[in-house]
Amino acid sequence: MSGHGTGATVRDAIFVVEHVTLRFGGVVSLNDVSLTMERGEILAVIGPNGAGKTSLFNSLTGVYRPQEGTITFVGRDGARLSVIGKKAHRVSAAGVARTFQASRMFSALTAFENVKIGAESHRGIGVAGAMLRGPMTRRDERQSDRRTVELLHFVGLQERANAISSSLSYGDRRRLEIARGLATNPQVLLLDEPAAGTNPTEKRELATLIRKVRDEMGVSILLIEHDMKLVMSLAERLYVLNFGSVIAEGSPEEIRANPAVIDAYLGTTNTASEAS
Ligand SMILES: Nc1ncnc2c1ncn2[C@@H]1O[C@H](COP(=O)(O)OP(=O)(O)OP(=O)(O)O)[C@@H](O)[C@H]1O
Ligand SMILES: [Mg+2]
Repeated sequence: MSGHGTGATVRDAIFVVEHVTLRFGGVVSLNDVSLTMERGEILAVIGPNGAGKTSLFNSLTGVYRPQEGTITFVGRDGARLSVIGKKAHRVSAAGVARTFQASRMFSALTAFENVKIGAESHRGIGVAGAMLRGPMTRRDERQSDRRTVELLHFVGLQERANAISSSLSYGDRRRLEIARGLATNPQVLLLDEPAAGTNPTEKRELATLIRKVRDEMGVSILLIEHDMKLVMSLAERLYVLNFGSVIAEGSPEEIRANPAVIDAYLGTTNTASEAS
């Protein structure tokens, strides 16, 4: 499938997902999923536990390889990358960054070091290469130091730069993960439950930071979040997944009023779809 003739109504898409199905043995994690993300938007994916949200992120970033469908990343310069079958580092190099549901910080390293690894892995040598290889040129070193300081400042962690990451509060760790994602200069940032484990004040601060990433850096945001208050205040548009399928799409108001969404969240005994 060439993708010609599809997406005619799309204005400025950054991701186009068409008919994606992902299976693990008998489990269908994504079932004929089609969706579009516009450049510059804050888009959310919500749905109950096991709905396929993280599987979607893993498919968008080249970590999982769906058996069916197409995923196209459209770069700022118009270049199209067909994601399925590409390695994760290749997708990352094209401009796609993400944070993980469970933190993947190097907890024994400082905040500064964690962000700097992100900045260096961007040079195409990967995280391991950035850690293992010999000294960089002084110019490169100065440049990634400068970028790291800038990013720590941007996320409000300038004072914690030399703190060991494991000593940071949950909220600060979540900020650090965002800084590390931004270190690769992405066009889109995928955040998998960025506020998990944080308190209400930290949640509000994270929402402000995420909006600032989009507004000031021009980075498009794709967000998975269980906290309805947070996601409804932050997202401009949402998709709802349930049992691997998209069951709704729309503005926060539309999603709140959608009967299928209310059903999925109230957990009506949906055994019929499990038995098939
Ligand atoms: N690597 C894998 N191997 C086998 N099954 C998997 C794998 N990854 C995901 N799944 C299955 O796919 C389904 C969707 O899981 P996924 O993690 O995408 O859900 P989720 O919406 O992110 O849930 P949560 O809100 O709990 O994080 C689940 O049934 C899960 O067990
Ligand atoms: Mg998940």
